[in-house]
Parts: sequence; C-alpha cells; structure tokens
Amino acid sequence: MATITPLRSAAARSSAAHAVAGTQLLSGDALRLEGVTRAFGALRAVDDVSLTVAAGQKYAILGSNGAGKTTLFNAITGDFPPTAGRIQFFGEDITELPPHERIRKGLRRTYQSSLLFRELSVRDNLFLAVRGVASGRFSFLRARGGHASTRATQDLLERTRLTHIADEKVANLAHGQQRQLEIGMALAGAPRLILFDEPAAGLSPAERRELVALLRSLPAHMSFVLIEHDLEIALRVVDRVTVMHNGRTLRTGSPEEIEGDAQVQAIYMGSRQ
Ligand SMILES: Nc1ncnc2c1ncn2[C@@H]1O[C@H](COP(=O)(O)OP(=O)(O)OP(=O)(O)O)[C@@H](O)[C@H]1O
Ligand SMILES: [Mg+2]
Repeated sequence: MATITPLRSAAARSSAAHAVAGTQLLSGDALRLEGVTRAFGALRAVDDVSLTVAAGQKYAILGSNGAGKTTLFNAITGDFPPTAGRIQFFGEDITELPPHERIRKGLRRTYQSSLLFRELSVRDNLFLAVRGVASGRFSFLRARGGHASTRATQDLLERTRLTHIADEKVANLAHGQQRQLEIGMALAGAPRLILFDEPAAGLSPAERRELVALLRSLPAHMSFVLIEHDLEIALRVVDRVTVMHNGRTLRTGSPEEIEGDAQVQAIYMGSRQ
C-alpha cells in the first residue's frame, strides 16, 4: 500500500475550525447511535452499534464487503429503520421518524449506486435537488422562490466545480463527474450531516484527487460520515474512524490509531486482498 501522507490534516483543520468558529457553532453531537441493530430475518446485518459523530466532525466507516456499512446508513436515514437501538440527531431522537422528516432536519445521503436524472442537465439535476429540499418535493416551478433557487443552484455548481459542464446532459458525463454531481445534490439545502456511501468507487486517480479536494472544502460546521474502501482517501479526509466487521464495531479511533492497529490490518486489509 502506498504511503498515506497528510494524516494529521483533518484533525488539525477540525481543531482550527473549533478555535475560529467558537463552541456555540460546533458544540454538541451531530449524530449519536446507541445499540443500533438491524436484522433481516435471522441475519443481524448491523448488530449493537454505538458511535457518536460530533458537530462538524468528519467521520469514516471502514469494513470489508457485507460488514453492514450501508445497512447502518439505511438505519440512520430511515430507509430501513433499526430493529433495536436509538438514533439521536443534534440531540433529538429521530429513531421513529420517516426518511423525509430526517431530510427536513438536515440529514442527507448519497447512494452506492447513482440516482441521477440521466436525461437532464447537470444544472437541472442540482436545481431539482434545491427545489426538492425547499418544497419537500421535486418541482420545476420557477415562480415562487425561483430566483433564490437559481442562485443556490449556481453556488452548488461552483462548489462542485461543475460550472463548465452545467448544461451537459448527465448521461454524457464521465463517471467521476457524475459522482461529484451526486455530492452536489446532497449539499442542496445546507445539510448538517451527510452520509457518503463509497463516493470514490470506480473513480480514476485524477477523479479521486478531485473528490478529496471537494470533501476537504466542505464547511467546518458540516459533519459527514464516509463509507470508503480506499484508505488513501478515507484516512486523509476524516478526524475519526470506526471499523465494522460482521455487523459490529471492531475499533473506533483516530486515523493514525486505525492505520496502526494490528487487528484491523489482519481483518480489514486481509479481506481486501
Ligand atoms: N434488504 C436486505 N435484505 C436482506 N439482507 C440484506 C439487505 N440489505 C443488506 N443485507 C445483508 O446485510 C449484510 C450487510 O450488507 P451491507 O450492504 O450493509 O454491507 P456493506 O458493508 O455495505 O458491504 P459493501 O462493502 O459490499 O457495500 C449483508 O450480508 C447483506 O447481504
Ligand atoms: Mg455498502
């Protein structure tokens, strides 16, 4: 495995952000899972997982195929609610809330497989995301609040560095550009926490660098949880890591601790070969 260089940068950025933004903006927990379990029949795909993501924290979930990472995301978003355990979002218990209520509270996700409107342009995809968040449903109506939505769309285009292909049909985009657009869609409506499910899957080295730059450019107050197989990416952009194995939490620690952990190496790296 190649050397992972700036391991300390995410933590350093985070504490700098704390210093600059003050405690009122970044205090408290964004997400708190207590004993979260999701069973499918006899299979406990997620088994008694407890973890805390601080406000503004960038967090990674690692684990081999079938470890339960996506199922954990599904439990957090309500797509497949937990069969046991509690989920708090900024201090509020959201365990029983339907997915759209969680979105309204500032929770977003991206999916392992693309959910873009392939026949529409990049700009229109982002516009729909902005309007969808604004109105609780997707709408092309540009009359009420249209100007603000157009401006928000332009902001997202710039943030995801997709302005030069704004009017291109999504179907014509490179894979990496599509994944960048998915992140742009998740950023609509100023979310407080985003769950990214393997955003680097299938990306070229150059596209991975773009992705790292994008993840690093996200605002200090915005938390994210990243599922990522590529340690080069995961350990470079987060402050804290949890490794899952067979539905359970195997280790939680800083990127440095996780990288140096013998059991993680044996189980995670071993199973990746
Ligand atoms: N809807 C479902 N019904 C039944 N079993 C499921 C369902 N979703 C996931 N599982 C099972 O739960 C386990 C965990 O799956 P999950 O998709 O969460 O793993 P993962 O860590 O995201 O893996 P990958 O790295 O391959 O994406 C697997 O054994 C999977 O087959
Ligand atoms: Mg998965």
